[in-house]
Amino acid sequence: MEVFSTFRIIFCVLVIKFVYGTGCRFHGDIAKCVNRNLTEIPRIPGNITQLIVTGNDLGSIANKTFKNVENVGKIWKLILSANRIVNISVDAFQGFTALSELDLSSNKINVNDLKIWLHHISQNYHINHLLMNKMGRYTINEETFSLLNTTPALRLYLEHNGLDQFTTSTLSRLKGLKLLDLDNNNIVDLKLVTMDSLETLRVSRNKLNQLPNFCIGNSSESFTKNLTILYMNLNLISSIHNDTFRCLSTIEKVQLARNIITSCPSYFLSSCHNLTYLDLSSNVGHSVNVYPYAFASNSLEFLKIGFNGNALDIYQSIPDTYSGLPKLEQLKLMYTNMMYMSNQNVSDLFSPLTSLKIFECFKCQLKCKLISVLGNKPNLTRVNLKSNYFQAIDHGIFTTESKITELYLGMNKIAHVSSETLPTSFLNKLSYFDLSQNPFICDCKLVWFIDWLRTANKSRIQYYPKGYTCASPSRWANKRLEEVHFSYLECHPFTIPEWCGLIGGPLVVIIIISGAFIYQNRWNIKHYIYMLRKRREYMPLNGENFTYDAFVAYNKSVVQWVKDVLIPLLEGEYNLKLCVHDRDFPVGGFINDTIVQHMRESRRLILVLSNSFVNSDWCMFELKVAHSMHIEDNVEVIAILIEDIEAKNMNNSMKVLLKTTTYLEWTEDLVGHELFITKLKDAMGVALNH
Ligand SMILES: *[C@@H]1O[C@H](CO)[C@@H](O)[C@H](O)[C@H]1NC(C)=O
Ligand SMILES: *[C@@H]1O[C@H](CO)[C@@H](O)[C@H](O)[C@H]1NC(C)=O
Ligand SMILES: *[C@@H]1O[C@H](CO)[C@@H](O)[C@H](O)[C@H]1NC(C)=O
Ligand SMILES: *[C@@H]1O[C@H](CO)[C@@H](O)[C@H](O)[C@H]1NC(C)=O
Ligand SMILES: *[C@@H]1O[C@H](CO)[C@@H](O)[C@H](O)[C@H]1NC(C)=O
Ligand SMILES: *[C@@H]1O[C@H](CO)[C@@H](O)[C@H](O)[C@H]1NC(C)=O
Ligand SMILES: *[C@@H]1O[C@H](CO)[C@@H](O)[C@H](O)[C@H]1NC(C)=O
Ligand SMILES: *[C@@H]1O[C@H](CO)[C@@H](O)[C@H](O)[C@H]1NC(C)=O
Ligand SMILES: *[C@@H]1O[C@H](CO)[C@@H](O)[C@H](O)[C@H]1NC(C)=O
Ligand SMILES: *[C@@H]1O[C@H](CO)[C@@H](O)[C@H](O)[C@H]1NC(C)=O
Ligand SMILES: *[C@@H]1O[C@H](CO)[C@@H](O)[C@H](O)[C@H]1NC(C)=O
Repeated sequence: MEVFSTFRIIFCVLVIKFVYGTGCRFHGDIAKCVNRNLTEIPRIPGNITQLIVTGNDLGSIANKTFKNVENVGKIWKLILSANRIVNISVDAFQGFTALSELDLSSNKINVNDLKIWLHHISQNYHINHLLMNKMGRYTINEETFSLLNTTPALRLYLEHNGLDQFTTSTLSRLKGLKLLDLDNNNIVDLKLVTMDSLETLRVSRNKLNQLPNFCIGNSSESFTKNLTILYMNLNLISSIHNDTFRCLSTIEKVQLARNIITSCPSYFLSSCHNLTYLDLSSNVGHSVNVYPYAFASNSLEFLKIGFNGNALDIYQSIPDTYSGLPKLEQLKLMYTNMMYMSNQNVSDLFSPLTSLKIFECFKCQLKCKLISVLGNKPNLTRVNLKSNYFQAIDHGIFTTESKITELYLGMNKIAHVSSETLPTSFLNKLSYFDLSQNPFICDCKLVWFIDWLRTANKSRIQYYPKGYTCASPSRWANKRLEEVHFSYLECHPFTIPEWCGLIGGPLVVIIIISGAFIYQNRWNIKHYIYMLRKRREYMPLNGENFTYDAFVAYNKSVVQWVKDVLIPLLEGEYNLKLCVHDRDFPVGGFINDTIVQHMRESRRLILVLSNSFVNSDWCMFELKVAHSMHIEDNVEVIAILIEDIEAKNMNNSMKVLLKTTTYLEWTEDLVGHELFITKLKDAMGVALNH
């Protein structure tokens, strides 16, 4: 089976090759038989509508040439270029009833045959595209068309025929001629006659030294009443006069690029009410003069200009050069030298163009501020200012509200961009962005941009990463922006507040911590200071020389108990002398010193411990001093627990004290009370003395 189907395929291919001839290829309804040295056209299937036979050797064309074409009546496009066709018979295209496009280019056909044949087809066919390019100046001349008759809607292409003089008189018979293409000839002077149907005239790449006269005689009646498109690029046209366009009232599109035009007089377009497109680019003439209101037009939408020379010399009146162009949406300038124009000059020049959508000034040597160029143009969508000398981007041009979607600022002198002048919200909206070939200074201020480039959609950034390199500093010179990295600290130097924060922060923390520490240990510290001072002024205690029998340390919450119980008991009943600070401390003086002095002047130290004792600085200080006097000087310390001390109020010093000294517990209970009094008397040595 496999073998059989393979055979079938090969068989089919062979049949197709054999039946439909070698050398032709078929794509849908198109047959192409190109460069095969065919002497006759092979079999062409009946569904082909476009037959392209070029680079073969057909020699002469008669109706038998197409005998293998199955359905000539279906073919609308026939290309027979470069087939060494010499003779062409009148009946050659008999049967081609649908033929509308015929290309006989690059065949040196017998002039007489061609003449008769043209006469025949102009009468019998409806060919609307007839291409007779590269047929040679002996084949194509005015004589060729002498027998022509009305052919509706004909587009005639006569490129590369070496034509020099050309008068359209013979063509004027073609009442339906819509397009005449005379590109790539040697025409110096084009003489027009009435061609009312002509819509497009192409005479580019010739030697015209002036625009043809479109006016009939002195009148303002036009030879070409329907002309809308005129292309005359690459000629030697040197000037435009104020009446050159006078008889082109229907014109819509004019190309005069690459001529040597040196003069654009005022209002030279004033008759052209439908002109929307004018191309005057690459005009290399010298001493160009553009007069005020030269381009003034109520219809012009597209203007492309390239004049050689210094703009200040070219523009005769800067503010009026682009005045009177209310509909201009696209202005493309190139090569004109605007280096010497001040900000004001540039602003004056472009400020009338408020409706611009597309603005280009390529290689204009602009050195002014960007805002002078782009200010006051709210509808801009595309800006191309490549190859100028702009140094900075001004504030307020590229904002989030801006309609710009394509921005080209490559090959300028912009060293820095800031996120204020080129906000990322603006950049992210762009569909094309080019800032390549600028001398970037790669410092911290550029980091945001470098980062943006890294993360942005690369297909929208022209020439990234290759075109984005650092000019300075030397550390990064000639390195690509994508390679530039800064550490966090490099780009975050401390400001004065940050320094203050840096130093002050820890300082505050230290102060707070040490404050808290000091507060926590306030009585420890006081005690420590006391110890230091005591050591310094060491004075052995005078055994018998006590002013008081006991020093009573207590918190003021228990003052009532001291007054009601302790003092009456010890002073009243036992005749002892107590030191009670409420009563015995002198007014004024350092309380520390007073305490210590009075404690020293006392034989015993009584600490009345209560829950609030531990919360009193002075009490804790007294406790500390008492403790150390007890240990170092053997002073007797009596602790009286006047109430149960809660665990939370029992700190280390108190625990140690209670461990190392005798303590008495006060109670209202009768037995307990007796015990307390007995113990207290013992502790105070009352029995001994009395
Ligand atoms: C034209 O006809 C050939 C064979 O007759 C067939 O192979 C081809 O698919 C047809 N092409 C179209 C576009 O109908
Ligand atoms: C066509 O003829 C030329 C010379 O006559 C020859 O060089 C060329 O190879 C031929 N081409 C084909 C496809 O036979
Ligand atoms: C050639 O012309 C004859 C009559 O002159 C006509 O019958 C015939 O159909 C034509 N052949 C082609 C392919 O046009
Ligand atoms: C071509 O035309 C010329 C002149 O009319 C004639 O001498 C010649 O025989 C013709 N050739 C063919 C192939 O018809
Ligand atoms: C000129 O153009 C108009 C509109 O396109 C058309 O109606 C008219 O027939 C044309 N004139 C000639 C002479 O072709
Ligand atoms: C054109 O005008 C000039 C002077 O105004 C006159 O001498 C000349 O005859 C006119 N030519 C035509 C063709 O009307
Ligand atoms: C054309 O220029 C001439 C002088 O060169 C002037 O007299 C004439 O008024 C101008 N015509 C228009 C329409 O501006
Ligand atoms: C300008 O164009 C409009 C619309 O295309 C047309 O109606 C009008 O006739 C044209 N005017 C001239 C002077 O050609
Ligand atoms: C250009 O600007 C300079 C300074 O702003 C001014 O003096 C000069 O007149 C201007 N030139 C023109 C042609 O406006
Ligand atoms: C900008 O475009 C809007 C909408 O197309 C239009 O209304 C407005 O007049 C234009 N602004 C200028 C200054 O041309
Ligand atoms: C990047 O931009 C291109 C062109 O504008 C777009 O087609 C593509 O979807 C974008 N890719 C991303 C990831 O946004």
